[in-house]
Amino acid sequence: MNFDISVLNNSERIIFELRSLYTKFGYKPFKMSKFEEYDLYGSNKDFLVSENCITFTDSDGRLLALKPDVTFSIIKNLDDSIQGVQKVYYNENVYRVTKKAGGFSEIMQTGVECMGNIGDDEVCEVINLAARSLYAISENYILDISHMGILSGLFNAMELSESNKAQLLSAVAEKNTGVILALCKSFNICDALSSKLTALLDAYGTPTEALSKISSVVVNAEMQNAFNELSAVCSKLVAAGYEKNINIDCSVVNDMNYYNGIVFKGFVHGVPVSVLSGGRYDRLMERVNKKAGAIGFAVYLDEVDRILDSTADTAEAAAENDGYLNVALPKGRLGEKVYAMFEQSGFECPQIYEKNRRLIFENPEKKVRYFWVKPSDVAIYVERGAADIGVAGKDILLEYSPEVYELLDLNIGKCRMCVAGKNEFCDDGTSTLRVATKFPNIAKGYYADKCRDIDIIKLNGSIEIAPILGLSDVIVDIVETGATLLENGLEPKETIVNISARLIANKAGYKFKSAMIDKLKDSLAAIVEEKND
Ligand code: PRP
Repeated sequence: MNFDISVLNNSERIIFELRSLYTKFGYKPFKMSKFEEYDLYGSNKDFLVSENCITFTDSDGRLLALKPDVTFSIIKNLDDSIQGVQKVYYNENVYRVTKKAGGFSEIMQTGVECMGNIGDDEVCEVINLAARSLYAISENYILDISHMGILSGLFNAMELSESNKAQLLSAVAEKNTGVILALCKSFNICDALSSKLTALLDAYGTPTEALSKISSVVVNAEMQNAFNELSAVCSKLVAAGYEKNINIDCSVVNDMNYYNGIVFKGFVHGVPVSVLSGGRYDRLMERVNKKAGAIGFAVYLDEVDRILDSTADTAEAAAENDGYLNVALPKGRLGEKVYAMFEQSGFECPQIYEKNRRLIFENPEKKVRYFWVKPSDVAIYVERGAADIGVAGKDILLEYSPEVYELLDLNIGKCRMCVAGKNEFCDDGTSTLRVATKFPNIAKGYYADKCRDIDIIKLNGSIEIAPILGLSDVIVDIVETGATLLENGLEPKETIVNISARLIANKAGYKFKSAMIDKLKDSLAAIVEEKND
């Protein structure tokens, strides 16, 4: 056949390359229907990236779902009486709710599953394939690896309840040292163990750098076994020449109910989200009554296509941008204080003081570029990778839950999120409480915890007017000095949470600029510490 390869777009080219790669390693194609019985997902919803599925009733009355996931369908069909390993690859569309689309979207997934009698060789083969899959997308890639047994062992040493484990796990995924220490304190964990958890997060780097740091944190047999397995796999990967593209990162976490061994996430330069995700999921196999181990990963190509197209067009611009640390600062008084701290940390940009209406400033010598953006937009710029780092109020982070690292509490911009109302108002719980707010998610979460029935009235500003005009019974809003409440005949009734400004980072951007970001973070932490003394 005479076939012109130039007719393929980027993701098509990558898919062909991956198919050929997986076939070479003995993986068989797995083709499946777009529909699956809903029951398959119903009892294991927390394994899915999003709980929602598109469902419909078939002509025979069965409830079906448009597939939100491929792994379930593959393991459902696995014949676990066959000895040895069974290896498959797939290229399918799945249907999920994504934050980006604000609803359901069709996501193209390619990946492999290796099931059966899994040993170190199979684990290495799958990670090797993950690295080669990333290489097919870009030479500039990073594969972050961890082992769930390291965290699980430490959590067991801390004797945590399941709900406390889940809270700590989500703080670990954000690299949120401040919250980790606060949670450990509230769970009465001794300092010796809580400092081991933060030490695990600090141990980010190449296997050689990170493993020696992790070895000093091991406290029990579960951690030791996990550490040994991670070390064995890493030494094979280093011997195969992957050291410069592989990092150990203990903040790579998956659900402990399903994943039990090595877990990993892949990033390519220029794409603001992870493009590959995988791990060992023997626990999921147990839950669906399969007597086999399993490890696999999925590659997400949708984002990749757009980025590869745009970088091809502007290769020069990309080269110019390369190496700059892009910082989103909140416009206004808080932003000025934040910039002063960055300047003190050695990331100065004199252009910023020029009197004009420019919004972007850079210092080519320090390789730093600042943008002034609306305070409530900082998290969006960082989450989507337009900025590598930024400073956002905890109120915004709680309200929008952006997928970012929360690296440091800057201890400025301090205020509190409160319920406030007219002095004479008292919530007697007899009727639905009408709550006016700019922060509907925070308000919903707060009242859901109290099992209080509320009616949310979403406003965009001047919230204090709502109870005065009878639009609402109370407001949920920021209180700093309390002057606005006082002058409008209102008073704070309950404090929901204390707020301050946080340093946040894009998860993918961090992989490629971690040295610069960590240097800045450490400097800022020293300034914060100095101010506290
Ligand atoms: C915030 C908040 C309160 C005020 C509280 O409003 O929504 O209105 O500050 O500050 P205080 O306790 O020091 O009086 P912002 O200035 O952001 O304006 P907005 O109401 O237009 O959002």
